[in-house]
Amino acid sequence: MDSISVLEKEHENISKIIDLIKKKSIEFMKSDEINVEFVKLLIEILKEYADKFHHRKEEEILFKKMQEDLGRIGEVMVVNGMLVEHELARGIIFDLGQNLENYSKDKSDENLIEVIGNMMTYRRHLAKHIEKENTLIYPYAKKNLSEDRLREVDDETERFLDENKEVLEQLTMKIDKLFQY
Ligand SMILES: [Fe+2]
Ligand SMILES: [Fe+2]
Repeated sequence: MDSISVLEKEHENISKIIDLIKKKSIEFMKSDEINVEFVKLLIEILKEYADKFHHRKEEEILFKKMQEDLGRIGEVMVVNGMLVEHELARGIIFDLGQNLENYSKDKSDENLIEVIGNMMTYRRHLAKHIEKENTLIYPYAKKNLSEDRLREVDDETERFLDENKEVLEQLTMKIDKLFQY
């Protein structure tokens, strides 16, 4: 198992979701209405798939080894870079949840634009984050972690995927549903 390819594949899935975010934002803007059920499911997927399934796996496996083995550069790249960006993403999702609650209670223009604004903020943030990991962080890890360490990353990723098979099946179904809206 090549764990970096697994992460890159997950990036492709997340990228499709954030492309959908743009498409739906335009739709909401034109119709002057938010599909609340869509955004609810979106938030659930961003929390469970993008964050718990993907970001947490990076944090607990690959990034952990980078922090341990790659000295100051590894530390800066991971902690000041990627972990801070994961936290930012969590903050945006939290805000989006609040925005949606406000919109559900009062469908004002102000509440509508807050929902769309935060959906697009998330999209922009994650697109940049993914680009950075694909072009900078993952290649740096591949080049600089020892073979033994990379094998550990592969083994731990394989174990994680084995233990979370059902979780992934459920999430895949939810993601399919999101694209049917
Ligand atoms: Fe990440
Ligand atoms: Fe990532």
